[in-house]
Amino acid sequence: MNFFQAAMTSIPDLIRKKRDGGQLSDEEIKVFIQAVTAKTMQDSQIGAMLMAIWMKGMDSVEIQSLTREMMLSGEVMSWPEEWKTLIVDKHSTGGVGDKVSLVLAPALAACGCKVPMISGRGLAHTGGTLDKLESIPGFSILQPAAQILEVLGSVGCVIVGQTETLVPADRVLYALRDATSTVDSPPLIAGSIISKKGAESLSALVLDVKFGRAALYKDLQSAEELAKLLVS
Ligand code: URA
Repeated sequence: MNFFQAAMTSIPDLIRKKRDGGQLSDEEIKVFIQAVTAKTMQDSQIGAMLMAIWMKGMDSVEIQSLTREMMLSGEVMSWPEEWKTLIVDKHSTGGVGDKVSLVLAPALAACGCKVPMISGRGLAHTGGTLDKLESIPGFSILQPAAQILEVLGSVGCVIVGQTETLVPADRVLYALRDATSTVDSPPLIAGSIISKKGAESLSALVLDVKFGRAALYKDLQSAEELAKLLVS
């Protein structure tokens, strides 16, 4: 099926396919993510697809496709040649009291790295870096790409949220996952995290996968499985 044939498939048909345990093709995932980004899909339909993915999962080909389409839903950043080996980041799967980014980003900048961190709000019971930063009066987590470049040049690190032009698909899916209790789904976590990091065009990335009562996954085994998925 090519993209145009997939585009003719109705959104309810795509939801039904995943609900019934089918494998979505690259083209179908592209249609889904483009509809999310263009806001031609109702929130109820997005919620239904998220729940179908939560329940039926995705295979590795679908997860790669979801991640790629989410990354390409907005702009993929590009950096000056002289920063080529300096663009680094870390992303945590999150938990209560997880504040590593707030100290790590400036510490890396102090070492000469450039950290273009696209972060997230609180998901389920976990705390969000963006919510914490917004508790500082006047702090803006929404920055255009030109401003990100400028702050990276002068300060060395920036922590921003998803916008209408920066991983916009994750911006929509992230909030709806929180509202539909579909946060703890390996394909959705992988798509969310890696699409943001892909859009940052990094030279190195550290993934910090938490487990325990305060995290998304409670035990070591599920955290290890998630870690392997993120790496792959
Ligand atoms: N952090 C993200 O950015 N996305 C998730 O799904 C979980 C943690």
